[in-house]
Amino acid sequence: MARILAIGTATLDLIFTLTRYPAEDAELRARGLRTSPGGNAANTLVVLSQLGHACALGGVLPDGPEAAPIIECLARHGIDLAVCRRVPGRPPTSCVLLSLEEGTRTIVHYRDLPEYGHEEFHQIDLTRFDWVHFEGRDGPETARMVHRIRDASPGPLCSVEVEKPRSGIEAVFAGAGMLIFSRAYANHLGFDAPRPFLLRMREQAPQADLIVTWGKEGAYGLTYPGEVQYSPAFPPIKAQDTLGAGDTFNAGLIDAYLKGLGLADALSHACRLAGQKCGQIGLEGLKGR
Ligand code: FRU
Repeated sequence: MARILAIGTATLDLIFTLTRYPAEDAELRARGLRTSPGGNAANTLVVLSQLGHACALGGVLPDGPEAAPIIECLARHGIDLAVCRRVPGRPPTSCVLLSLEEGTRTIVHYRDLPEYGHEEFHQIDLTRFDWVHFEGRDGPETARMVHRIRDASPGPLCSVEVEKPRSGIEAVFAGAGMLIFSRAYANHLGFDAPRPFLLRMREQAPQADLIVTWGKEGAYGLTYPGEVQYSPAFPPIKAQDTLGAGDTFNAGLIDAYLKGLGLADALSHACRLAGQKCGQIGLEGLKGR
C-alpha cells in the first residue's frame, strides 16, 4: 500500500443516460439520471483507494449542502480531506450526457471556485506521501507545486495529467517524473500521431516518462531512455459508461508504477482497468483483474 496525494478537483456530476446524443434545441426524455461525485483528481483517488492505496485529496471544497454527497463518497473510500481548502459556495457541477448509441460522454462543466494553489500546497508535509499526482490546471501554480516536489530530497514521485491546453502548462514539463497527455492536447499542438508528439514533448521533459492516451487505439509511452511503448485498448463488449475512463487510466498507471512495473506493463495494466471501467456504470468495485 502506498500513500498517494492528488491535487485537483472534486465535482458534482449529474449524469443523464440517453439513447442517442440529442440535436441542438431538441427536447427528449433521458433513460436514466444519477448524481455522482466526479472530478479528475477525485475519480483517480476513488479508483486508487479501491486498489488498496492510502489516498488524500488536495483541492477546494465548498461548505454548502450540495457538497455533502461528494464529501460523503470520498470519506466512504477513506480519502483523507484534511489538506483541502474549505470555502463558502457550491461545488463545481457537470451536466454529463451519456449516449448509449455512441458510447460517448459529453460534459458541460461550471465552476466558480478558486483553484487550489501553491499557497495551500506548501503547507503540506511531503514526507507523508510516496506519490503526488496533479490534475494539471492553472499552469504557473501547478508548476510551482511540481517544482517544490522536484526540489525536495528525497521527495515523493510526481505525475501530472495534461488533459487540456491551459495557459502556461508547459512550465510543469521540466519538473515531473511522469507526464500523462491526452490526445486532445496532442491534436491541439498540431500532432495527429502519438510518436512525433511524444518525441517533441521529450525535448521539454528530458527527465520524465511520457504517456499519451489515444482513444480507441490505446495508449503510447516513451520511456526515459527513449523507447516507444504501446498498449492496445481493451474495450468491453458493450460500453456502458465512459465517464472517468481517463481518470481510471491514470490510476492504473500510478498503481502499476508503485507495484514496480515498467512502462510497457503499466500501459497495459492501465488500459485494462480503463476498459473494465467502460463496461460498468460508475467507479465502484474497480479492482483490476
Ligand atoms: C471526468 C470528469 C467528471 C467531471 C469532469 C470535469 O473525467 O472528472 O467527473 O465532471 O471530468 O471536467
